[in-house]
Amino acid sequence: MTGATGFLGRRLVRGLLARGERVTALVRAGDRAAARARLVAVLGEAYDVGTLAVVAGTLEDLPCAAEVLDRGPVARVWHTAALLDLGDRRSDDVQRTNVEGTRRVLALAEKVGARAFHHLSTAYVWGATRGTLDESLPPADAPHRNAYERSKWEGEVLVRAFPRPPGRSARIYRPGIVVGDATQGQADVYGAFYAFLRLCLGARGAGTLALPTLPQARLGLVPVDRVAGAMLELSYDEAPGLRTYHLTNPDPPLVTELVEVASALLGVPLRAGGAPSPRFHRLARPFLPYLVDESRFAQPAVDAALGRGLLAPAVPRREWARRLVASALRDRFGRDEATWEADSARLARLLGVHDAAAA
Ligand SMILES: NC(=O)c1ccc[n+]([C@@H]2O[C@H](COP(=O)([O-])OP(=O)(O)OC[C@H]3O[C@@H](n4cnc5c(N)ncnc54)[C@H](OP(=O)(O)O)[C@@H]3O)[C@@H](O)[C@H]2O)c1
Repeated sequence: MTGATGFLGRRLVRGLLARGERVTALVRAGDRAAARARLVAVLGEAYDVGTLAVVAGTLEDLPCAAEVLDRGPVARVWHTAALLDLGDRRSDDVQRTNVEGTRRVLALAEKVGARAFHHLSTAYVWGATRGTLDESLPPADAPHRNAYERSKWEGEVLVRAFPRPPGRSARIYRPGIVVGDATQGQADVYGAFYAFLRLCLGARGAGTLALPTLPQARLGLVPVDRVAGAMLELSYDEAPGLRTYHLTNPDPPLVTELVEVASALLGVPLRAGGAPSPRFHRLARPFLPYLVDESRFAQPAVDAALGRGLLAPAVPRREWARRLVASALRDRFGRDEATWEADSARLARLLGVHDAAAA
């Protein structure tokens, strides 16, 4: 497994180990001991080496097949590592990690003789395509909003060739925006959704903040535990060939609901609709297109395999949204106090909050 230290990857490792599987994880670190220590710290539990093996490496510099096979044959490869950056400054890194990295992991899977390839993609391979989006491969000219979406689309194109020769299987999992768990809204890695919330919080004291949206726009938030659980369930069907699964929340929050909830909890007067200030716009630009997204994701393959509603939160939509925001605030978005203070000062400077307060 690549990406074992990640938000989803760590849950998949725990889930596989709990089901009695043996896992070999690729972890970024200087050597095998340091890689193991990193992963154990993330998992919060030490497993014996026979159950959980760790190899040090990166997607750019993968271990050789012999090193991976050191612990025994490899039946399946899970590729979850990726660079999630929606901005445009790191597009080369995004391409290198998500496309070239996937190409290398596929080649390694061939070399170790894996019969199944489980790949984490995203529902946003559809980019800004409108309407009800299915589990097929979007066309090459799909309106991708950034290098990340494009790179995940290109990654899928590569993975689709894996089930040849016949007898092998490839599974493509496409989550929505993965956030805290289905019950408490609790996260332990704070990705893009939280970065946007953090930005809104940074604007506290600068007056009302307008956010562009549409009345029916929804943010495709989906609980992390539901996504990981569904992937583990689905992964046991390794019938030859390709399957693609949308792992999306069937009833995600409306953006207007999120705006209300966030406004109350963050203490920032947010307004749904209108254009934000130029300063805020500059920082929030990668996130803003998602606030006007009225598309829906169909998930017939998941519904058929697992039944409907398995990816929904355990509490009503608005209450879940409240819990997501409240738990992130309680955790200071995963930062220690010093980092939090430094971040707050940087954001205030960038957003000109002190100027606004003085004015
Ligand atoms: N989170 C979401 O909202 C979301 C939504 C849809 C799809 N996805 C997809 O789901 C997958 C997992 O996402 P996540 O949220 O769990 O990501 P995450 O928490 O950011 O974790 C990313 C993982 O990839 C590893 N990684 C990144 N670049 C690497 C490189 N060059 N070499 C080796 N390892 C590298 C990271 O290792 P380090 O610990 O060393 O950094 C980490 O283990 C990704 O493929 C992503 O595209 C995520």
